[in-house]
Amino acid sequence: MTPITLAAIGAGQRGADVYGRYALDNPGDVEYVAVAEPIPQRRQRFMAAHDIAPDLHFTTWEDLFDRPKLADAVVIATQDQDHVAPALAALRAGYHVLLEKPMATTLADCVALVQAAEQAGRVLQIGHVLRYTDFFTQIHDIVQSGRLGDIITVEHRENVAYWHMAHSFVRGNWRRTDETSPMILAKCCHDLDILYWVLGERVTRLSSFGSLRHFRPENAPRPDVPARCTDGCPVEADCPFSAPGIYLEHRPFRPIATSLGLPEDTNLTSFLDWPLVALAHGDKRPEAIRAALEHGPYGRCVYHSDNDVVDHQVVMMETERGTSVTLFMHGHSHDQSRTMRYDGTRATLEAKFAMQNEIKIHDHLSGKTEVIEWFGGMDGHGGGDHKLMAAFLKTLRDGTHAPLTDARASLESHLLAFAAEEARLTGCVVDMDAYRQ
Ligand SMILES: NC(=O)c1ccc[n+]([C@@H]2O[C@H](COP(=O)([O-])OP(=O)(O)OC[C@H]3O[C@@H](n4cnc5c(N)ncnc54)[C@H](O)[C@@H]3O)[C@@H](O)[C@H]2O)c1
Repeated sequence: MTPITLAAIGAGQRGADVYGRYALDNPGDVEYVAVAEPIPQRRQRFMAAHDIAPDLHFTTWEDLFDRPKLADAVVIATQDQDHVAPALAALRAGYHVLLEKPMATTLADCVALVQAAEQAGRVLQIGHVLRYTDFFTQIHDIVQSGRLGDIITVEHRENVAYWHMAHSFVRGNWRRTDETSPMILAKCCHDLDILYWVLGERVTRLSSFGSLRHFRPENAPRPDVPARCTDGCPVEADCPFSAPGIYLEHRPFRPIATSLGLPEDTNLTSFLDWPLVALAHGDKRPEAIRAALEHGPYGRCVYHSDNDVVDHQVVMMETERGTSVTLFMHGHSHDQSRTMRYDGTRATLEAKFAMQNEIKIHDHLSGKTEVIEWFGGMDGHGGGDHKLMAAFLKTLRDGTHAPLTDARASLESHLLAFAAEEARLTGCVVDMDAYRQ
């Protein structure tokens, strides 16, 4: 089998450590032949890992697209606001595209991407990894099988762990709406996509509430806490959000290691890849991490950052069949999980998507409960990262069917997220049919 050739646009955490990793693990299937990445350390790391030819590395995607087509497809894993321009350029140049979510940060740009892909006749697959997991495939199949009867209500919770909230949405890349996107789009376009896919029902009315309640200067535990945790903070040892506590001592992750039966002194660095890799361009040595905390964004006090995205939001939806659906998203969870409950006329389904997955089906007639449990793994979105890439490559090879999460299929989740943000900011109930027009 001839490997499919790819060019990486953005070799950060997702570009290098997820999609790049897949190619290293599946060399006969796929091969990276080019990379565009402005940060020299990241570009070098990617070139070395994939043995990229000296004339096929570029500082930006513009330089890559100045050259004649040099691969079958591109994987675009730049930041949220840098998705549209390279995706449109790639489609114009005849590439198939795997594009990270959110596909765009405005509705008009989402529509432009769908149209551009369809006009070009190229695959544009969006990084909605959850649809590819065993967990959500099972939830989808159970609901669609009719085993639960008619679904009357759904409660879906996106429980963002407190340290993940601090890492990504207070100190990190997704802390400001103007620089990336509102949290309901950045974090929950996945959840809105899953709800739409599992139910197969369009939303007719939607409202939303939420705010940035906790991570604000007035909530600092004392008036004298410094701007950085490393500047002699008097409450550092007592603060769950302590940067040295999270990144150097791995305090939040010790209980996870214990629950997995690992020894107390286990070095957790290797399986904390994604939070750690953001700090010092992939250099995970303690001295590099410490320097990053002293000088970079991840050492900032969570009460004195420049964040503005919400730390909790609820979205209430009514579907075309009259199902009431609630999505809860919050950044104050003890664990990193998604939990859900579907109440149908014949059965209730309760489920948890986390390291340890669980699906329970309580049958009304028999009174019996079926429990399905399995270990979902430490990372990779419960296997979804790997399967999304495999599905992209299969679509390119077969050339027959549209991927499960092509741009058109992904449009609805983005539309719902934009509507939810509008509803939250204005306090209105959004009529979704009118909104779609
Ligand atoms: N599918 C998922 O579940 C999932 C999970 C996390 C993140 N994401 C999304 O993936 C995207 C990337 O996230 P990340 O954590 O890898 O970010 P990152 O900041 O680690 O990586 C982005 C990379 O793009 C590079 N870049 C910037 N300008 C560029 C240009 N002009 N040309 C080429 N490269 C350029 C940056 O230097 C950086 O290395 C984001 O949109 C994010 O929301 C998706």
